[in-house]
Amino acid sequence: MTAVALEPNPLREGLDQERVPEASCLVIFGASGDLTQRKLIPGLYSLAHDGLLPSGQTIVGMARADMSDEQFRASMREACEKHARTRPVDDTVWENFARGLFYVTGEFGDRAAYTRLRERLEGYDQARGTGGRRIYYLAVPPDFFDDIAQHLAAEKMVNDPEHGRPYTRVIIEKPFGHDLESARALNRIAVTTFRERQVFRIDHYLGKETVQNLLVLRFANGIFEPFWNRQYIDHVQVTVAETVGVEKRGNYFDSAGITRDIIQNHMLQLLSLIGMEPPVAFEADAVRDEKVKVLRALHPIENAVRGQYTAGSVLGEEVPAYRDEDKVNPNSNTETYAALKVFVDSWRWADVPFYLRAGKRLPKRVTDISIHFRQAPYPLFSRLGVKMQANVLAIRIQPDEGISLKFDSKVPGPAIRTAPVSMEFRYATSFGAEPPEAYERLLLETMLGDATLFARRDEIETAWAWLDPLLQRWAKDPRPPHFHSAGTWGPEEADTLIEGDGRRWRRP
Ligand code: BG6
Repeated sequence: MTAVALEPNPLREGLDQERVPEASCLVIFGASGDLTQRKLIPGLYSLAHDGLLPSGQTIVGMARADMSDEQFRASMREACEKHARTRPVDDTVWENFARGLFYVTGEFGDRAAYTRLRERLEGYDQARGTGGRRIYYLAVPPDFFDDIAQHLAAEKMVNDPEHGRPYTRVIIEKPFGHDLESARALNRIAVTTFRERQVFRIDHYLGKETVQNLLVLRFANGIFEPFWNRQYIDHVQVTVAETVGVEKRGNYFDSAGITRDIIQNHMLQLLSLIGMEPPVAFEADAVRDEKVKVLRALHPIENAVRGQYTAGSVLGEEVPAYRDEDKVNPNSNTETYAALKVFVDSWRWADVPFYLRAGKRLPKRVTDISIHFRQAPYPLFSRLGVKMQANVLAIRIQPDEGISLKFDSKVPGPAIRTAPVSMEFRYATSFGAEPPEAYERLLLETMLGDATLFARRDEIETAWAWLDPLLQRWAKDPRPPHFHSAGTWGPEEADTLIEGDGRRWRRP
């Protein structure tokens, strides 16, 4: 993915980000982990490349591995060469960026490590102008949150901005718990040391351009919102399909399953953006207030199918069954696929089913939302033997980000015949650029202190409260999930779930 010189394109006007935050110290706990190498440092580097990081921005990695600043920089450069959006790495940009990159060796449970860290950060405040501003990124399993938070507090490394001190913010990563109880426990830890408005919970789907565009599509255009309700919409489908299996995360995934991994967070975020009422302002709490109302209005789940892949072929490659994956229990009943029929009990959505499905090892990687409108009320052309189709607004979250509207058109010729056609918008062709990585946007928003694109405590807990009964039912059910071969679109039972209602899954 190299940068390509673009012809001036009027649609790109205004795309340049103007907001540049003040320099701060961003500390990444878990700096030797996968997330740091694949997403965080490459994301930060790309921000620097695009001129969006303030000069003096300082990034400090902390982890157990013994490393010098120079060794850390070298391994991060390699990570950027592999994973940054803006590749190949530009030497001049890198040198400048690497000057602000440091490493502190330390165990998360060792108080002395935090003393060392504090002293280093205070030094950067002097040398690099970071003014006491702190962002702590907890890129570690949740078991470490408590330890880290307590040590930071004990070392007086957490400021309450109410008292006119420089800000302290904390970024936490999913999983935000395993169920309602554990989510509450994690939230309690977070808000014991920090205030809720200092906590930035990352759901990286909210950093995706196309997900943000859902708000723009709905609320910046006059033509969609009048039809965005039960009077015109027959049903909604949301698909999150992946071709990958559990990769190296067999341990984690086997105790989570796709419902916790994808539906509880990413899909419910999508659902709440589709379902929400217009917020009174484009501000963090106004937007999140409306999203959480959708979650609170979710009807208890009555129809759900859990599936699991067996051996098969994905994109031409033979892959093993889930139960044969590394670090997976050979008798595991964990679902790698789930399909749910969901209702939102509100005036806008009563009786409109939302069909959600997510799975690993499906035939292609695609995230797609489709709004299926009701049929035309009077089939004017049916006497002529013309079969009319319902309109579909399809929002492609990834890849090939874009939006299409399907409608019927007359086939040229003397007879009245119709065929579905579609109007297409594609990011790549309209804006001449690929959207930035979700993490870039979210890191920048944290530096700017805007929490609109982050999950609030009540969103997380409401989502768990709704899912818990289903997860408990499944946990107690001794029957195995419905099997399907890897590389197919899930088990037959998932087709029955929707076909029983006289509808079909869209093939995105
Ligand atoms: C993560 C899940 O949150 O999202 C992974 O833990 C999944 O299992 C990933 O693969 C999908 O993200 P994306 O951006 O590739 O759709």
